[in-house]
Amino acid sequence: MGVTLRAMGADTASKKFAVFFAVSALVLLVVLTRGVPIEPMNSQQLKEDDTEDAIRRSESALEDHVRNLEKTQREMDKAKRELSRLKQQLLDLRNASTNTFPSVVPRNEFDRKRILITGGAGFVGSHLTDALMKQGHEVTVMDNFFTGRKKNVEHWIRHPNFELINHDVVEPFMIEVDEIYHLASPASPPHYMYNPIKTIKTNTLGTINMLGLAKRVGARLLLASTSEVYGNPTVHPQPETYFGNVNPDGPRACYDEGKRIAETMCYAYQKQSGVEVRVARIFNTFGPRMHIGDGRVVSNFIIQALQGQPMTVYGEGKQTRSFQYVSDLVDGLMALMNSDFSDPVNIGNPEEYTMVDFAKSIRELVGDPKVEITHKPATQDDPQRRRPDITRAKQHLGWEPKVKVVDGLKKTIEYFRRELEQPSARAADGRGVGGPYGHQIHLPYVNEE
Ligand SMILES: NC(=O)c1ccc[n+]([C@@H]2O[C@H](COP(=O)([O-])OP(=O)(O)OC[C@H]3O[C@@H](n4cnc5c(N)ncnc54)[C@H](O)[C@@H]3O)[C@@H](O)[C@H]2O)c1
Repeated sequence: MGVTLRAMGADTASKKFAVFFAVSALVLLVVLTRGVPIEPMNSQQLKEDDTEDAIRRSESALEDHVRNLEKTQREMDKAKRELSRLKQQLLDLRNASTNTFPSVVPRNEFDRKRILITGGAGFVGSHLTDALMKQGHEVTVMDNFFTGRKKNVEHWIRHPNFELINHDVVEPFMIEVDEIYHLASPASPPHYMYNPIKTIKTNTLGTINMLGLAKRVGARLLLASTSEVYGNPTVHPQPETYFGNVNPDGPRACYDEGKRIAETMCYAYQKQSGVEVRVARIFNTFGPRMHIGDGRVVSNFIIQALQGQPMTVYGEGKQTRSFQYVSDLVDGLMALMNSDFSDPVNIGNPEEYTMVDFAKSIRELVGDPKVEITHKPATQDDPQRRRPDITRAKQHLGWEPKVKVVDGLKKTIEYFRRELEQPSARAADGRGVGGPYGHQIHLPYVNEE
């Protein structure tokens, strides 16, 4: 270094700077050659730290990965939902464009009637809709869906002869029609007892509204009355001339008396205003499309037997009922509407069963002999005998039932079997099924309408 300074021939300041520079360089050299003083550490600890670091990094990478997977899963679920929505839309569009309706008899304008069916989305109303639509008439179904279902008439939706209107018959309703089948009313005891005041309004105000409409447009009106107007009958079998034995204050009165006053109103409109009326006194009817929560004996027995549960008979089970298959009823209603006969007519099947025998027949048809038949106390005002005298229907309408009860039961059992297979069918025993307005109904079983 001294040699270098001499060789440069530097002045004093330069010499000082050179000395300072040389010392600094020396210090730097020492530091570099010895290394910066650091904490002493053994190699084992170094390795452990490295491993922990690596674990932490892997864990965080894994968490990121899981988060990404979850996000992807959510996106896939969303895409799946979207796909199924689109598939359904496509299906709807296809159905709309292919018009796969049941076949309909062609009719010209003069021959085609415009028909209103109140309560047409219910059990009986939907079968009547099918029959009148197939005959080529224009059918408007008006229903508030209290017990009726869109599903019952969905196969006609978009047919040019068909219209479905959500309306409560208690409110006035205007439409131009030639005939009115007035069926709107809950029919099974759990349904009509669910809201007795509404049942009364439906049968009184609703019937007045329909009679007023019939008067205004000159339509003929058929009232779906009931064998319940005979109450607990003291005459057997029941002819139309029997005035009945109804308890006006009992639990069934909202329905029984509602139908009795509805009949009275029909004949008042006929006498005073010249409205053409037809009154069908319908006896117990069964068949596919009965409400799964109907609560009447046919559906109760079938549902219990299909589920291998004891079949409940109220009282001793010696009380009798007669049952008709729904297609016979529909034929009878149309025959009555098209007849010149305006007095009340019984429409029912005189084949009479005791409740115990009926339970046994259903058990046999379901094919489960192990199912027990149990007894519970009789219900209030339960009629002891019910069988229609159908002489009038035979004479004036040329009508009588054609379907054997056993054949009808086979079809009905198949229908309930399918219904119970639906994922939403919650019927354990026919009770507690989502009822009208989606509420649970927990009323006692009854052995008939
Ligand atoms: N099924 C039977 O065994 C039987 C026996 C005798 C009489 N009837 C009578 O036949 C008719 C049909 O009975 P069903 O067995 O099909 O019963 P259901 O309960 O299946 O049908 C009745 C229909 O009327 C509708 N309805 C009720 N209240 C209404 C209102 N306020 N406004 C508009 N629609 C209303 C319901 O939503 C339902 O679609 C009823 O009038 C009933 O009294 C039936």
